[in-house]
Amino acid sequence: MSVLIAPSILAADFARLADAVAEVEAAGADQIHVDVMDGHFVPNITVGPPVVAALRKVTALPLDVHLMIAEPDRYLEAFASAGASIITVHAEAATHLHRTLARIRQLGAKAGVAVNPATPLDHVREVAAEFDVLLIMSVNPGFGGQSFIPRSVAKIAAAKSLLTEAKGRADIEVDGGVDLTNAASLVRAGATMLVAGVSIFGTPNAGDATRALRKAAGAGN
Ligand code: DX5
Ligand code: ZN
Repeated sequence: MSVLIAPSILAADFARLADAVAEVEAAGADQIHVDVMDGHFVPNITVGPPVVAALRKVTALPLDVHLMIAEPDRYLEAFASAGASIITVHAEAATHLHRTLARIRQLGAKAGVAVNPATPLDHVREVAAEFDVLLIMSVNPGFGGQSFIPRSVAKIAAAKSLLTEAKGRADIEVDGGVDLTNAASLVRAGATMLVAGVSIFGTPNAGDATRALRKAAGAGN
């Protein structure tokens, strides 16, 4: 199965977002990862629904919206209306995760759940039939350009077993410190979506970096 490449615009030039997206779209990126941070759940602030709506107008690619925010239920409708294709909430931030995931699907988006490095996968076991994407954080969320936490590889493999046992068919997305050196091992462990910020937009040519990451990831198939 071919892995989906999701460039994260967090590492792009925010004054030229449309150009950044066009560059990776032309290079075959599968979806655009949009990191939403609120200064509460994580110690950083980024963008909200207006930016998702603006991106929706300039790309045909699915918008993969990663909500690193407290009380995500309050904003699901706004992000769905803005054109989010996948809405991912953090297991640590959603008090009634089952209901939140059902609401996302009801709004017409794919439902994703993210787990921080310190969060056991058991937190999502009971809702395995309720999500389309399981996002394994391979750094502590809040900033781009951090080092990959090696233990995440074992967690990806455990996530794959959990989904198999639960007969879930969700994608396994990996986010944080993904680059050419670890992509193949992530795919080998079970990752089906790779998020990459600095390793794509922190390079001189985001298109070339997208193609290189796909090639490196393909070696894990
Ligand atoms: C981190 C974000 C990531 C971030 C990844 O909190 O969720 O999506 O953009 O950036 P890199 O690939 O640079 O680690
Ligand atoms: Zn992210």
